[in-house]
Amino acid sequence: MTDPRHAHRPPPDAGTYMRQVKSYVLRTGRVGPGQQRAFEQFGPKFLLAYDANQRLDPVAVFGRSAPLIMEIGFGMGGATAQIAQVRPDDNFLCCEVHEPGVGALLKLCGEQNIGNIRIFQHDAVEVLDHMLPEQSLDGVHIFFPDPWHKARHHKRRLIQGPFVNRLARHLKPGGYLHLATDWQPYAEQMLEVLSAEPLLANTTPEGSDGYAPKPDYRPLTKFENRGLKLGHGVWDLVFVRR
Ligand SMILES: C[S@@+](CC[C@H](N)C(=O)[O-])C[C@H]1O[C@@H](n2cnc3c(N)ncnc32)[C@H](O)[C@@H]1O
Repeated sequence: MTDPRHAHRPPPDAGTYMRQVKSYVLRTGRVGPGQQRAFEQFGPKFLLAYDANQRLDPVAVFGRSAPLIMEIGFGMGGATAQIAQVRPDDNFLCCEVHEPGVGALLKLCGEQNIGNIRIFQHDAVEVLDHMLPEQSLDGVHIFFPDPWHKARHHKRRLIQGPFVNRLARHLKPGGYLHLATDWQPYAEQMLEVLSAEPLLANTTPEGSDGYAPKPDYRPLTKFENRGLKLGHGVWDLVFVRR
């Protein structure tokens, strides 16, 4: 007999990698009053609703047709807002699960009138899998993803072969994947995984160490600056879809 607890569970979506392990743990962070106001005031313009059964129509949500860049895990959104402003001709689809971070970016978008950002407060992996078709993205940014230092947590790292393959398939030919990290073992894993993906090619010439010079559009964060002064490294990786 069917266990009633499972009776209404939808059948697995053929072809979709059923993900068990999340790349984040939802932190209980306080949404400050300014962020709360930003949700109320600017949410209707900038927030998008996740719907697993609905494909995103970028022209409709941005109100124009422009290259589409997805950002995964924007944190408090400071770099995201700066990048969107130095690249006004691109549209930025930004995903973050941490509510205070979403509030912070909403505040920046509303106060600085940044028209080329839209935000999903949702797991980016699900947005990618369910709302975006293959070959729909011109670029993907993943800056300082959680390094999950402990070996038993490595399975939570976002950058792993199967996910990178899905990212690559969602890029248009010529589209790029830009990653950055300040954790050397993760940088090495990123380089290994991206180099092993047949759909991707490294933009950094062979014969070098494989890491890219920091592209000008990515601002140095305060945290990164402090680390650099202490002699800590930061590694950028820029690959393109063949
Ligand atoms: C270490 S923080 C870095 C934030 C920001 N990119 C920066 O450079 O400051 C990583 C962020 O990724 C978010 N994150 C992790 N996995 C995610 C996912 N699957 N979808 C959306 N956000 C995710 C986390 O909530 C966290 O805020």
